[in-house]
This record gives sequence, structure tokens and C-alpha cells, in this order.
Amino acid sequence: MARQLAAQGHSLALTARRVDRLEALAAEIAAAHPDVQVVVHALDVNDHEQVFDVFARAIQDLGGLDRVVVNAGLGKGGRIGTGAFAANRETVETNVVAAMAQCEAAMAHFYERKAGHLVVISSMSAMRGMPGSMTAYAATKAAVAHLAEGIRMDLVGRRGLDIAVTTLFPGYIASEMNEQVEQEQRLMVDTPTGVRSMVKAIQKEVDTAATPGWPWGPLGQVLRYAPRGVVRKLV
Ligand SMILES: NC(=O)c1ccc[n+]([C@@H]2O[C@H](COP(=O)([O-])OP(=O)(O)OC[C@H]3O[C@@H](n4cnc5c(N)ncnc54)[C@H](OP(=O)(O)O)[C@@H]3O)[C@@H](O)[C@H]2O)c1
Repeated sequence: MARQLAAQGHSLALTARRVDRLEALAAEIAAAHPDVQVVVHALDVNDHEQVFDVFARAIQDLGGLDRVVVNAGLGKGGRIGTGAFAANRETVETNVVAAMAQCEAAMAHFYERKAGHLVVISSMSAMRGMPGSMTAYAATKAAVAHLAEGIRMDLVGRRGLDIAVTTLFPGYIASEMNEQVEQEQRLMVDTPTGVRSMVKAIQKEVDTAATPGWPWGPLGQVLRYAPRGVVRKLV
């Protein structure tokens, strides 16, 4: 996403824990797009004080943020009742509590500027309670989708605020997170294809979008409304 947004001329603040990888990416982007400013900050989103500190530094570096993408996420977990509480809790903390810290920092900035675009990365798995190792993950992705919708509710009727909130519901997109998952590969798209669909929805500032739209728009409705037995066979 950083590569695609930089190609469109957007300056970027990149954050993650593995800062060496971000430095390499920033160098690659700087070489390809010398007019684009790229800053890098190490950030563990579970360190909430660091979230607010890094946001403040990125705002200072770039003279403000037009858009924040709340993306950091974990897919760890195990069936509820099988002793996987630690992994499930880690997923909930990263995907929900840390996402809320990022939304807090982003929205405070946007309210102050009276403008901005918050993008929250949910998942197709938010469409329904999911079994086994996906139960906690699916619950977190439903939670962040509701968090974003709540923020959107706060903006209803607020004149003078040019703030948009977009929730993306990606299907299977090749990434480090799902490189081991064989059964998903039938519907998996490569990273640039999946990200292109996400960037397109982001640029339109839609409220919500399934990405890629096909087949995940219709499939999302099947996941949401089909009988439990049917969904169980699909996932
Ligand atoms: N790929 C898919 O098919 C798919 C589908 C639906 C939704 N999603 C969602 O898309 C988002 C990105 O996932 P991905 O597929 O790109 O997975 P990924 O390749 O595993 O990337 C996850 C990213 O989050 C960062 N991250 C994880 N924990 C962090 C933490 N505590 N602090 C700061 N950064 C952290 C990682 O960087 P560091 O490890 O360096 O910190 C990495 O850049 C996630 O929210 C995921 O749930 C993905």
C-alpha cells in the first residue's frame, strides 16, 4: 500500500516494530519517487503511550496527517476452550485495543484540523462468528468495524468537519499473515492486486468496501446470512 500511495504522490509515515524492513521500503520509495517524503518510526501499537507519541512525531515530521490507515493486525488464535487464551488475548489486544488507541490519536488530530480520513482494516471474517482458530480474530474484526461505524455516527450532522471514515473488509490477499494457509489459496489474490482494490476504495472515501469487490462483496452476504451449516463448510 505504501508503494502504491507513494506512486500517487502521497507522502508517508510508516510504522511497525521491524523498523529495518520499513527503512528498506522507505529507501526504495525515496529512490523511485524523490518528490515524496517518507518518514519511519518504530512502533509497537500495544504500547499505547508510544502510539500517541509516534502520532505526534509523524504529525510534526509531515506538518499534519491527511489520512491514517489502522492496519496492524494479528491472526493468532485457537478454538475457545482449548487453552489458547494467551494467543486469543494477544490478537484481541492488537486488533481491538491498539486499534482504538490509533483511532483516538487519529481522530483527535482530525477534529483539531477539522479534516481527515480514517481508514480501518477489518476483514471478511467480520461478517459472521467464525469457528476454531478464527473465533477471536473474527470477533476482533467485527469489533473494529463497529468502532469505525461508531466514529462515523459521531460525525453525522457535524457541519464544518470534512472527516471521512472508511472500513475495508478484505478477502484473502497474499501476505506474511496467510502464507501458510493452503485451503485459502483458491480465492487468494496476489498482494499488489489486493492492495490496488483497497487503495481504490480508500481514494473514493467510501464508508465500507469488500476488497476485492469480486467475489467478496456477494460472498460477504453469503457469510453473513447463510445457515450456519453452510458457512461451516465454506470456512
Ligand atoms: N491478508 C489478508 O488476507 C487479510 C484479510 C483480511 C484482513 N487483513 C488485515 O489486514 C491487516 C494487514 O495484514 P496483512 O495480511 O498485511 O498481515 P501481515 O503481513 O502479517 O502484516 C501485519 C502488519 O502489522 C504489523 N504489526 C503487527 N503487530 C504489530 C504491533 N504490535 N505493532 C505495530 N505493528 C504491528 C506488522 O509489522 P511488524 O511485525 O514489523 O510490527 C505488519 O506490517 C491486518 O489487520 C489483517 O487482519 C488481511
